[in-house]
Amino acid sequence: MHIAVVGLSHRTAPVEIRERLSIPEQTMEASLQQLRSDEQVLEASILSTCNRLEIYALLRHPDQGISAVGSFLSQHSGLSVDELSPHLFTFHHEDAIAHLLRVAAGLDSLVLGEGQILSQVKKMVRLGQEHRSLGPILNRLLNQAVSTGKRVRTETNLGTGAVSISSAAVELAQLKVGQARGVDDLVPLDQEQVAVVGAGRMSRLLLQHLAAKGCRGVVLLNRTVSRAETLAADFPDLPVQCRPLVDLDHCLSTCSLVFTSTAADDPIIDAERLKRLNRRSSLMLVDIGVPRNIASDACDLAGVEAFDVDDLQEVVARNQEARREIAVEAEGLLEEEARLFLEWWDGLEAVPVVNRLRIQLEDIREQELQKALSRMGPDLSARERKVVEALSKGIINKILHTPVTNLRAPQPRQQRHTAMKVLQDLFELVDGSNET
Ligand SMILES: NC(=O)c1ccc[n+]([C@@H]2O[C@H](COP(=O)([O-])OP(=O)(O)OC[C@H]3O[C@@H](n4cnc5c(N)ncnc54)[C@H](OP(=O)(O)O)[C@@H]3O)[C@@H](O)[C@H]2O)c1
Repeated sequence: MHIAVVGLSHRTAPVEIRERLSIPEQTMEASLQQLRSDEQVLEASILSTCNRLEIYALLRHPDQGISAVGSFLSQHSGLSVDELSPHLFTFHHEDAIAHLLRVAAGLDSLVLGEGQILSQVKKMVRLGQEHRSLGPILNRLLNQAVSTGKRVRTETNLGTGAVSISSAAVELAQLKVGQARGVDDLVPLDQEQVAVVGAGRMSRLLLQHLAAKGCRGVVLLNRTVSRAETLAADFPDLPVQCRPLVDLDHCLSTCSLVFTSTAADDPIIDAERLKRLNRRSSLMLVDIGVPRNIASDACDLAGVEAFDVDDLQEVVARNQEARREIAVEAEGLLEEEARLFLEWWDGLEAVPVVNRLRIQLEDIREQELQKALSRMGPDLSARERKVVEALSKGIINKILHTPVTNLRAPQPRQQRHTAMKVLQDLFELVDGSNET
């Protein structure tokens, strides 16, 4: 058995490829079932976020298993294996484990240390459990990733300072508005007419950061106005006008800065829509949706500047250095957590030998018990029989306890192999290396 991760992320694939692979929650069950239907895939889980699509799997055979996961990704995205391969990464065993822990800790995120990824890893565990695609091994690994993510955020300074894609989006707007005014720095957004489209988690963070960056008011558009109103109520110091999504054209005509963060599958703003409008001024669009909410042709229009999540690299690079130093603190903790998982995994190697030993001793116990009971004759009461049986079981369990504990305890692999070999030879256990 072999643990692997196959996937792509903001490091390996542009947003136009990433959005082809995004798997929404509604279709997660079908995707997990499809993966699990391949006999090579023993356990599977999918991490689908705006910046990554990663499949963690327990595979029967590494090469055939990886190729099964690759075929799934190709089929799901509609891209051929050749088109997809340059964007995919594959990590095996220790490297796959280390990668997952880095992801959960936010060390592989575009915005180093951002907190949303931990909720997304938790969601991956929940969906895997609900849809029964996890077995004991991935379940243990993914839960360890969640606890590692929490540890990193409580035991290091990585989680301090509210960092997220939304904060980077607001900073990008500050930078671009500044540049438009001839200043190469972040400027307050107090002169902009700002709109936010969408009222979910990311929009909440957008409002938080807009309020902190001097924005004087926001038009908040959402398909469901009541959700926008609930969100607005949490920002009593920021004037927020809630509007239905049908007011989008009006908003695009009157606002100078529009953020989009909806979970729509297709773009809600494109060049065609913008052309029809009677815009009174230049318009800056910042889209953090994946799949994108703004079509790539929007920036072809005069007076329109459009940015997507990949453009956030520009601001992220500006303040990443300080966070990178803090990230070093987290590395030691991740190594410790990876070692703990690997020790547990290594301990599993001993399970088939322990099981065979147990069966062999159990056979002896049963035979000797029957002999003893028949010698004692029919006068033995039911209670006395039970006591004798319990005695025989107790002796076997006591004898097994110490060797089994020692065999499964953390130790160098070679040492465990030697101990297993000794047990196999002394008790003449039949080799069961194919047992699972
Ligand atoms: N969560 C993250 O960490 C993160 C990070 C970066 C980027 N993103 C991206 O940001 C976007 C929003 O994420 P989120 O976590 O804020 O989502 P969320 O909390 O689930 O909220 C989804 C929002 O999208 C709206 N929406 C859904 N389908 C729509 C449609 N067909 N047309 C118009 N509006 C629609 C919803 O409106 P209703 O209220 O009417 O349902 C709601 O306002 C996604 O594209 C996501 O990939 C997320």
